[in-house]
Parts: sequence; structure tokens; C-alpha cells
Amino acid sequence: MKLFNIPYLLLAAILLVTFSSVSVGDIENMSGMRFVQLVRGGLLYDNWASELGIRVEGNHPAYPDTGRQKGPDTWRCKECHGWDYKGKAGAYARGKHYTGIRGVRDYANQDPSLIVEILKNDTHNLTDKLTENDFDALAMFIAYGQIDVDLYIDRKTKRSIGEASSGGRIFLSTCIKCHGADGKEINMGDDNKPEYVGTAANDNPWETLHNIRWGHANTPMISLVFLGLKEQLDVLSFCQALPQ
Ligand code: HEC
Ligand code: HEC
Repeated sequence: MKLFNIPYLLLAAILLVTFSSVSVGDIENMSGMRFVQLVRGGLLYDNWASELGIRVEGNHPAYPDTGRQKGPDTWRCKECHGWDYKGKAGAYARGKHYTGIRGVRDYANQDPSLIVEILKNDTHNLTDKLTENDFDALAMFIAYGQIDVDLYIDRKTKRSIGEASSGGRIFLSTCIKCHGADGKEINMGDDNKPEYVGTAANDNPWETLHNIRWGHANTPMISLVFLGLKEQLDVLSFCQALPQ
């Protein structure tokens, strides 16, 4: 085989161009420490204090007096910006999680160093709590990890556009280990108001999709972000078909 003939050189050139045109933001192609940081960022967005074992006291200073949450929850990114990343323009437009604060969608695909600056501002009040590494992870998530959920989950019916039958193959070989085949092995609520995978996925599909993609802060739950978004949505659809 002649390795250096013209077709091979052409192929090499095409590969080179293809790979160099893939931006660092393309998570399908991200690897190594950048990928580690991205996934950690997804977990920190969920609950950085519990994930990092940091105690936070009282309400976050930027949490509105009129808000109905109290204490450590008010420090979670999701509490002000939403599981759908849309803040007051999304699921938290009303109800017990309303804050009137905007979402983080405008910072998707933005330069992570700009996002770090925002996270270090007085509003966020985090500089004495997080390390440079944590800020970087959160910025990676905001820039490259978040997605426009309205393209995949119907806002009114809350249904995921995935295929439950395909999702079953993933759930029944991975999630099953902890949650059981019917998703009821762990009760995430209490005896009076049990909450299973099926309950969570129908009640708050945006949160479940976030958990499917990144895992669940401060638990051994795995992340499926190495799979394509389609497969993640298939898993969400399967979860929505589980008993509540
Ligand atoms: C207690 C509420 C609160 C919490 C918790 C919070 N933020 Fe914010 N965030 C704000 C406010 C207020 C703004 C300013 C936006 C505005 O004008 O309402 C903001 C702005 C932002 C912006 C810029 C959005 C834009 O379009 O201007 C980003 C990005 C952001 N926050 C990320 C985060 C991340 C990541 C976390 C978790 C570490 C977090 N925030 C936690 C209140 C909060
Ligand atoms: C290694 C164990 C483990 C695996 C594997 C696992 N989970 Fe979990 N999961 C957990 C734990 C622990 C919790 C948190 C339980 C609690 O809050 O009490 C959790 C929470 C959840 C929640 C609820 C989030 C909430 O707070 O309402 C959902 C939904 C969920 N998992 C779905 C899945 C799906 C889908 C898979 C497969 C992709 C999966 N889990 C795989 C351990 C696991």
C-alpha cells in the first residue's frame, strides 16, 4: 500500500481541516480535562455547595425578599436561573420558585472568561467560596453545556420528543442498578409523598434532563453526556413512561 499517494494526502488534509474547525465548544468532540470540567460544571450548577461540601448560611444576598425559598437552596444556580436555564422566561416565571431573575441562555457559546467575570461579581458573592477551578467548570457549563430545552421538551405537555423504546435499552442497563427497572427503588420524596424517577420526569422534565446529562450533585449518579442528545432524550421519554 502506497501511503503517500495523492488520495491519502487529500484525506489527511480533509481530516486536518475538519478537526481544526471543530471549536472547543463542540462537546461531542471535547476530551480530557476540558470534558472533566464541563461535566463538573453541570453538577455545580445543580448544587455547588453540596457537591463541594461547603456550608452556606442564610439566604443568598441576591435572592429577593419576596421569594419563597429559604437557606442553602437560594444559593443554587438553578434556584435563580432555572433548570431550563431561562429564569423568569421559563418554568420559574411563576410559582414557588419565582425570583424575577433572568436566565443564562444569552451566555451559551460565549467566552468562558467573560462568564467567570460575571460569577465573580458582587451580585453572585462567590469569590470567598469557590476556587478558580470551580469558576472555570461553571463557566464551561454555561458556555458549552446548557441547551435550549424548548427544542426538545414541549413547554405545555412537558413531553420529551425522545423515543421511550430506545431509551429503555439505556435505562434498563445503567439506571436500573440504582433505581430499579420501574424507577421506584429509591424514594426521593417521603412516605407521604413518594417521588420516583417517573414522578420526577413528569413533574420537572427539565431537571430530569439535567440529571440525565450531568448526574445528580453529591450522589454517585452517573452522567450520560457522553451519549448524543437524542439518546439522552430517549432516556427521558422512558423515564416519563415509568410509574409515578
Ligand atoms: C440568588 C440569585 C442568584 C444565584 C443563586 C445565581 N445567580 Fe446568576 N445572576 C443573578 C442576577 C440577579 C443576575 C443579573 C441578571 C439580571 O439582570 O437579573 C445574574 C446573572 C447571571 C449571568 C448573566 C446572565 C445575563 O444574561 O446577564 C450568568 C451567566 C449567571 N448569573 C450565572 C450564574 C451561575 C453559574 C450561578 C451559580 C454559581 C448563579 N448565576 C447563581 C442571580 C443569581
Ligand atoms: C449509582 C447510582 C445511580 C445511578 C446509576 C443512577 N442514579 Fe439517579 N439518582 C441516584 C441518587 C442517589 C439520587 C438522589 C436520590 C435522593 O435525592 O434521595 C438520584 C436521583 C435521580 C433523579 C431525581 C432527581 C430529583 O432530585 O428529583 C432522577 C430523575 C434520576 N436519578 C434518574 C436517573 C437516570 C435516568 C439514570 C440513568 C441514566 C440514573 N438516575 C442513574 C443514583 C443513581
